[in-house]
Amino acid sequence: MYNPVTPEIVARLQAIVGADNVIFDDPERLESYSHDEIAEKEYAHFPEVVVKPGSTAEVSQIMQLASKEKIPVTPRGAGSGLSGGAVPVYGGILLSVEKMNRILEIDLDNLMVVVEPGVVTNDINEELKKHGLFFAGYPMSLQSCFIGGNVAENAGGGKAIKYGVTGRYITGLEVVLAGGEVVQFGSKCVKDVTGYNVVQLMVGSEGTLGIFTSIIIKLLPLPTAKIDLLALFPDVETAISAVPLMMTKARIVPTGIEFMDRLSMVTTHEFLGEKMPYPETNAALLIELDGANQEQLLNEAITLSEILEEHGAIEVYAAETPDMQEKMWRVRRNIAEAFKAVSPVQSLEDIVVPIASIPKLMPILARLAEKYDVLIPCYGHAGDGNLHATPVKKADDTMERWAEILPQLLTELYAAVHALGGTISGEHGIGHKRKNHLPLVMGDKELSLMKGIKAVFDPQNIVNPGKIFS
Ligand code: LAC
Ligand code: ZN
Repeated sequence: MYNPVTPEIVARLQAIVGADNVIFDDPERLESYSHDEIAEKEYAHFPEVVVKPGSTAEVSQIMQLASKEKIPVTPRGAGSGLSGGAVPVYGGILLSVEKMNRILEIDLDNLMVVVEPGVVTNDINEELKKHGLFFAGYPMSLQSCFIGGNVAENAGGGKAIKYGVTGRYITGLEVVLAGGEVVQFGSKCVKDVTGYNVVQLMVGSEGTLGIFTSIIIKLLPLPTAKIDLLALFPDVETAISAVPLMMTKARIVPTGIEFMDRLSMVTTHEFLGEKMPYPETNAALLIELDGANQEQLLNEAITLSEILEEHGAIEVYAAETPDMQEKMWRVRRNIAEAFKAVSPVQSLEDIVVPIASIPKLMPILARLAEKYDVLIPCYGHAGDGNLHATPVKKADDTMERWAEILPQLLTELYAAVHALGGTISGEHGIGHKRKNHLPLVMGDKELSLMKGIKAVFDPQNIVNPGKIFS
C-alpha cells in the first residue's frame, strides 16, 4: 500500500534537511521515536526514518517527496501524547518538529504570540511572564510537551473549567498540506467568519490533516492573585459529589477542580519520594482560584471551604504562596508518570461526562473493578467531568487474562459513559488506541463525513495514517 523508505529516499531527505537531521538504520536512536507516553508496548511502532526539518520550506519539500513516492509521514512533537497520535503505525517518515522551536513574535499590540510547533509549552509562558501575559492552556505535561502537539490534540488539562482548552486561544495556523502546499488559515483577528473555520478543524485533528509550521496564539493578562485549596475527604463519593455543588450551589466557577483518589496520592508521593502528609484521607480535591483581586479570591475560598466542610470534607488547606501551590500541583501533575512507573500494565483513560453525571460514574468504576477483578484508580479534571480512570492489572493476574478482559471492560466503561451523556476521550484523543471503539459513540453518517474531510485534505492517506479511524 505504501512504498518503503529506500537508501535513495534517505539521500534525498538528507539533501533537504542536512545529514545531521536524519536518523536511519540506527535502531537505538529510532526507538525513542517509536512510542509516546502510553505505557502499553503493543502500541509502539518504529519509523523507517526520522527527519528533523528546521523550516516551513523544508517541511514542504519533505511532503512533496512523500506524496510523490507515496510514503506515510507522521508528525511528532515531544511524544508526550497518550493515544498514539505521534506513533508511526505504518513506518515511513517520522517528521519531528523538535528543531522548529522558536518563538517567532511576541506581539504586544495585538496580545498575540506566534510560535513554531516545537516550543515547549511552559517556555512560552516563561517568556510571556516578563510582559505580564500568558497563554491559558495548561496540559499537565506542560514542562515537556510541545505546543504543536497541544494544538494537534486540542490538549485540555487542569484549568479548562475557567479557561477552556487549547483551541480557544488558537486564531491562526500555517499548515503544510499532504502535497507540500503551504496554507495560512486564520490570522491575528479575534473574530473571523470568513468561510469554514478550518483553524478549529485543524485543532484536535491529531496530525491527520497537515503539518503545523507556525501557530498564532491569543494571550490574556497574567493573573496576579491565586489561591489553591486542598480539600481532604473520608471517601471518594463525598469528594466527587462536592464537585458540581461548588459551581451550582456557590455559583463559583474555579480555575480548576482536580480530583485524586487515595491510591493516586499514595503512589505519587512514593514516586516523588515524599511523605504523604495526610495519611487518613481517601480522596482529595485540589481547587484553584485565580484573578486580579486577592481579597475577592479569599472570600470565594472561604465560601467554598464552608460548602466543602458542610458537605463532609475532613479538612481544607489553603495555599497562598507560589511554593506551596507548586507543591500541591506537582503531586497532581506527576500522577500519570507515577502509575506508569509502578503499574505499567494499565490503560490510562480520559473519559468525560457532563458535570452533573460525575457522581454517577464512581459506582460504575467500582462495579467494573469488581466484575473484572482489576484495580481502577481514578484522578483527573473533575471540574469538567474529565476523569483518568485507569484500569490496572493486579500483580497476581496473568497477562493472558488481562489481554482478554481489557477490551470487554473498556467497551462496558465507554458504553456506560455514553449513556451518561459523555464520551470516550476528553483530552487525549483517539489516535490508534481508541479507534476501534469510536463507533460506540459515533454514528455511520458522522464517521463517513469525517472520513470525507480526511480524504479532501489527504487523498493518498499519507499524513499520519491509521489514526482516529482505519
Ligand atoms: C493528566 C494527564 C494524564 O491529567 O492527562 O495527568
Ligand atoms: Zn489529564
